[in-house]
Amino acid sequence: MADNVHEKWLQWNREYGHVFQTRKRLAPAFRPEAVSLQYPYFAKHLTNLIKLLDAAAGGNNPVDMSSLHVRLTLDFMGDIAYGVELDALSEGGECRIVKLLDTILPELMKCGFFPLRSKIPILARTREMHRAIAEIRMMAENAIQNARQNRGDSSESEEKPSNRIFDILTRQKEPDGNFTFSSKELVDNYVAGADTTAHTMSFLIYEVLRNPDILATLHSELDARIPFGVKIPSLEQVKLPYSGMLLKETLRYNSTGFGTFRICPQDTEISSTVPPANTTLALWNPAVHRDPRLWKDLDTFDPERWRSNERKMRGSYFPFYYGPRNCLG
Ligand code: HEM
Repeated sequence: MADNVHEKWLQWNREYGHVFQTRKRLAPAFRPEAVSLQYPYFAKHLTNLIKLLDAAAGGNNPVDMSSLHVRLTLDFMGDIAYGVELDALSEGGECRIVKLLDTILPELMKCGFFPLRSKIPILARTREMHRAIAEIRMMAENAIQNARQNRGDSSESEEKPSNRIFDILTRQKEPDGNFTFSSKELVDNYVAGADTTAHTMSFLIYEVLRNPDILATLHSELDARIPFGVKIPSLEQVKLPYSGMLLKETLRYNSTGFGTFRICPQDTEISSTVPPANTTLALWNPAVHRDPRLWKDLDTFDPERWRSNERKMRGSYFPFYYGPRNCLG
C-alpha cells in the first residue's frame, strides 16, 4: 500500500513538478515592492476609466460597471505582464479579447465539472471554447514575441533587468539563455487574475454605494492617509486598514473566486464519505463563507467584523484557497 502511494506520488511529481517550479520563479513578481512599481500603470488605466465615467455622467445611458472593470483589468494586466496596449476600455464591446473570454469562461466552468466534456468536445460550444483558447494563445504569443524584440533582452542591453513584473515575466532568462516563461505559462497565469479582480471591484463598489456609512468611513480613511493631489500613492500610503477590512468582507460576502476543483488521486475518506479515485471534487467557498455555524449575521455586509483580531476557524474563510495551488496573485 505504502509503495503504491509512493509510486503515485513519484508519478504525480513527474507530471506536475514543473508547475511548482514555475510558481517559485513567479514569486518575485508578487512581492509588495514589485507590485508597487505597477501603480503608475494602474493609474494610467484608471484615468482612462474615469474619463469614460465622466463622459457617461453627462448623458442618460446606464453604464455597465462590471464590463468596464473587466476591460480595465485586461488593459492593466496586458500592460504590466506583456507590455502591450490591449485598449479594451476604449474599444468596448468590439474588443476581440473580451469576446474570446466571454466564449471561454462559462464553458470552461462546465468543463471543470465534467472534464470529459473538454476532452471529447461533442458540443459546438466546447469546440468554440477550444478555438477561442487557441486564438488567445496565438495573440499572446505574438504580443510576447513583439515585446521581447521591441524592448530588447535585458542580458544584452545596457539596461539592468528591473523588478517590473513585465521584466520578470517576459524578459527574464535562465542561465542556459532560454526565457524563463513560455508564452503558454504567461497566458495561463495572467488570465487567472483579470476576471476575479474585476468582479471583486464590482461587488465592492456595489456594496459601498448601498451603504452610505461605509462610504463615509472609506472616504475619511482615504482623505486621512493619501494627501490631496497625490496621483500615485506610495506603498506606505496604501496601507489602509479599513479598506483592507472592506475587501475581506467583499470576498466573504460575495466570494468572487467562488470555486476550484481537486481530483482525488485515490479512494479518499472525507467526513465518512469515500469518493473513489479520480473523482473530481468541486470546492465552493460561498457555501462556507455564509455558513451559519461559522459566521454571525452572515447575511449582513459588515466590514467591522474584521476589526477584532479574533482568529477565524481554519477552513472558514478561503477566498484564495489553500495549499500549493492557491492563488498566486
Ligand atoms: C480578488 C482577486 C482574486 C481572487 C478572488 C482569486 C482567486 C483565486 C482562486 C480561488 C484560485 C484557485 C486556487 C486553488 O485552486 O487553490 C486562484 C488561482 C490563481 N490565481 Fe487568483 N484570484 C485573484 C486575483 C489574482 C491575480 C491578480 C492574479 C495574478 C496577477 C492571480 C493569479 C492566479 C494564478 C496564477 C492562479 C493559479 C495558481 C496555480 O494553479 O498554481 N489571481 N485565484
